[in-house]
Amino acid sequence: MKTLTLLLDKQLKPVFLRIAYGLRHAIQTGKLTANEPLPSARKLAEQLGTNRHTIMAAYQELIAQGWVESIERKGYRVAQSLPIEESNHSLSYHPLVEKAFNWDINTDISESSLDKPAHKYRYNFAGGSPDVSLFPFKDFKSYMNESLSRPNFDDLNYGNNAGNNNFIHQVKTYLRRVRSITDKEIIAVNGSQEAIYLIARLLLKSGDKVAVESLGYQPAWNAFKTTGADLVPIQQHDNGIDIKQLEKVFSTTDIKLLYLTPLHQYPTTVTLPIHERMAIYQLATKYNVAILEDDYDHEFHYDCQPLIPLAAEDPLGLVIYLSTFSKIMFPGGRIGFIAVDKALVPAIMRYRSVMNHKPNVLMQDAIGRWMQDGGFERHLRRMSKRYHQRRDHLIQLLNMYKAQGIALDYDLPAGGMSLWLDIKSHAHELEQVCHENDIYLAAEHHFHLDPTKDENRYVRLGYAGLSSDALTAGLHSLFTLLKEVQSRGY
Ligand SMILES: Cc1ncc(COP(=O)(O)O)c(C=O)c1O
Repeated sequence: MKTLTLLLDKQLKPVFLRIAYGLRHAIQTGKLTANEPLPSARKLAEQLGTNRHTIMAAYQELIAQGWVESIERKGYRVAQSLPIEESNHSLSYHPLVEKAFNWDINTDISESSLDKPAHKYRYNFAGGSPDVSLFPFKDFKSYMNESLSRPNFDDLNYGNNAGNNNFIHQVKTYLRRVRSITDKEIIAVNGSQEAIYLIARLLLKSGDKVAVESLGYQPAWNAFKTTGADLVPIQQHDNGIDIKQLEKVFSTTDIKLLYLTPLHQYPTTVTLPIHERMAIYQLATKYNVAILEDDYDHEFHYDCQPLIPLAAEDPLGLVIYLSTFSKIMFPGGRIGFIAVDKALVPAIMRYRSVMNHKPNVLMQDAIGRWMQDGGFERHLRRMSKRYHQRRDHLIQLLNMYKAQGIALDYDLPAGGMSLWLDIKSHAHELEQVCHENDIYLAAEHHFHLDPTKDENRYVRLGYAGLSSDALTAGLHSLFTLLKEVQSRGY
């Protein structure tokens, strides 16, 4: 017989009624279901530290009300058909039943307006969705099996919180080789979002100012806002953040942190030229601003080798670099990492222990083995090739629609998983109609910090998660809807 945890109201007397109410509440809230056996009076009395007669009286009360039945030689069980609550008067005065609790909830972060997740739409043009169906689950299973066959007991226990040693070693080696990041410490995190929240908690206080790209990543903004910090938007030009405006803001406002997606700007996908990245670093040193560099999908870079991030040349150690396995593997894996100057590590670990000791150690261990064996980079090469083909297919289709007279423009994204498409007008309306027709798409208004800057002409088209056939069919539906929306002019 399972142990019952009852909600008992100490104010309620006599005791048998208190227990009867606790049992009834367990039935009403689904903890006990129709026909479920109940503990014997003796067992429940032992559990609750009372005597058998009190329990029998409680059961009798509930039998009288129709919540419980007594079956000969089998004992008590929850009634097969439960009474309608309104017909029961004897216990309904209890305050918990009469009114709902009034939650006073902080409303400092923006709500999502989606009624279902993007991947549930027939065509999902969400910008950051990888094609999870192409993940080599069979290969990866062997690394998971190894992790379970030869568990690392240091990891399985509390402590060792920065991450699995081999995972950290593999990430460091990889970053040194492909990103030229040589002098940072690695901390494993549950995806970049946790890292952004962690860094926000660590560095920001109420009233601090965070400079962000004026078009950007709302989940990061939300994390900053939870600390009470204010966001300062910096305008963008064709290649990313506007350095002149950044300098003006740095020189006139006390900025604590700059959050940046320089390699593939989110959401426009453009790459900030190297001399501008260097200029930003100079400004950050001059005005003593820390930089949070979010490198979320730079593994997928098609037209040249992946570029070197700001974190690679950071003699002052002011750049905190983030990356994630969400795009390379799948977002549900929840593994990412922070590459940070060693001076910050103890403070980050202290803050992390407040919310979460460490990410899932089996996943870290398996990824470490996968990286060590070369499987990770093989997968990366395969996926880069596939996403590159999808990007090119998308471009072909867009050019075809353009040739048919649809007004559209775009800059060829050098990498990543999405394209920033200028459809000239009705972006918001197109998004709405697409959602109604089972197509997921995000228009520019989702990405503006200042809503008055919305020109209602750009949409973010994710292509990585769609096969060539799905891209062809999805775009056909999308442009049919666009023509309708624009001709109706609403
Ligand atoms: C700009 C940016 N940062 C970070 C992430 C990744 O988040 P996570 O690692 O929490 O899945 C994304 C994913 O969409 C993103 O677009």
